[in-house]
Amino acid sequence: MPTSEPIDVRDMAIVHRTFRNGFSEAARLVRAAPAPPTARVTFLADHIDFGIAALHIHHEGEDELLYPKLVERAPEQAPMTEQVEQEHQLIQEALDAASAACAAWRQRPSAETGEALTAALEHLNAVVQPHLDDEEQKIVPLAAVTLTQQEWDALGKHGVTRFPRNKRAIAFGMLLDPLDEADRAYMMRTLPSPVRLLYPLLIGRPWKRYASKLRAGT
Ligand SMILES: [Fe+2]
Ligand SMILES: [Fe+2]
Repeated sequence: MPTSEPIDVRDMAIVHRTFRNGFSEAARLVRAAPAPPTARVTFLADHIDFGIAALHIHHEGEDELLYPKLVERAPEQAPMTEQVEQEHQLIQEALDAASAACAAWRQRPSAETGEALTAALEHLNAVVQPHLDDEEQKIVPLAAVTLTQQEWDALGKHGVTRFPRNKRAIAFGMLLDPLDEADRAYMMRTLPSPVRLLYPLLIGRPWKRYASKLRAGT
């Protein structure tokens, strides 16, 4: 049943921006130093695994809370909706391949395993971009007139609760990183007010430290 007023759905494209940038950046970082000291391998491999898990969680939420509702409530558009959802499978295969390449690199970092990881991340990036386009252009506008705001917001909450608690600050810092001031302010509104008040301490500084370690020497 379409709602009368479109709901606010802008956070999907905002969240996607992290996925649009993250895997190509990780590929560049591995390529820049394919066999660095062990501590660097561990840090970067953890970072890559984190990005892989984050996209998996994002899709899990959509598979559970978004696509089935659209198919049920807008059956005339179901073929289009299902086609975009099926892109998740292609991405899952690329995520699994990147995860395996990351494990191999972590275990035995070399020019060869580094190159295999870089290629897997670039392939993942290449299959992710058109899906994010399709979702933003076709699915999000449909959801805006098909879901209630509460149903839509449950999607964002799903993502947050699936992250381990000790990773949430870095995840949020990573999310804000590519945003302009307006989008940043918009996403900050989703934080509980005690966290928002202590943002510099709880998220800002830990993220800055993490980001400068991640990008050191580049
Ligand atoms: Fe999405
Ligand atoms: Fe998706």
